[in-house]
Amino acid sequence: MTSTEAVRDRIAFLRGLRAVRQFRAEPVPQYVLDDVLEVARWSGSARNIQPWELVVVRDREALRSLSGVRGYAGHLAGAPVGIVLVMAGENAEQETYDEGRLSERIMLAAAAHGVGSSIGWFSGDGRSHAKRMLSIPEERLVRTVISLGYPDEEARRGRPRAEQARKPLSEIVYEEEYGQRGDV
Ligand SMILES: Cc1cc2nc3c(=O)[nH]c(=O)nc-3n(C[C@H](O)[C@H](O)[C@H](O)COP(=O)(O)O)c2cc1C
Repeated sequence: MTSTEAVRDRIAFLRGLRAVRQFRAEPVPQYVLDDVLEVARWSGSARNIQPWELVVVRDREALRSLSGVRGYAGHLAGAPVGIVLVMAGENAEQETYDEGRLSERIMLAAAAHGVGSSIGWFSGDGRSHAKRMLSIPEERLVRTVISLGYPDEEARRGRPRAEQARKPLSEIVYEEEYGQRGDV
């Protein structure tokens, strides 16, 4: 049986996952990345198609270039490593869901090692630019990159509180019927 303390720890771990966009320079060791990639590999996907491939980017210049393409992945510039999610590009609805699961797993596995991470999206022609930079075939979908690195706690302290707020359960949970409030 799982002890109450272990359950509490796991729930706190899951609940505590936050986006980290400021990193220390120190590299992420290979054994950490191996764990992250192994957890990623075991992500569930619609019909178990596993419509993904991953490009691990460590080259500083490449990370800087990727951070500058159109989109919202500026945090890559200061990350020691990025993982680009390459989706098959065959079934947008399923792959979008699968990509979300894959992203969350990568972030959680990294967090288990104390490594922070953030999703970054390429948008518009930024997606084609990113593909060209990494020699990824044009027919694939490249939307998401995940920055990884040890959190720079000092830099993160200035982060506005509102950014991390969440709606209370009382606003988002209904009982038995939409619109019906429970005790939460
Ligand atoms: C689908 C999705 C796309 C996101 N895209 C970006 C992005 O392009 N750039 C970025 O810095 N953060 C991105 N994020 C991170 C969110 O901004 C972040 O999760 C949200 O602000 C809540 O912050 P927290 O996770 O630290 O609590 C994305 C998150 C999700 C789920």
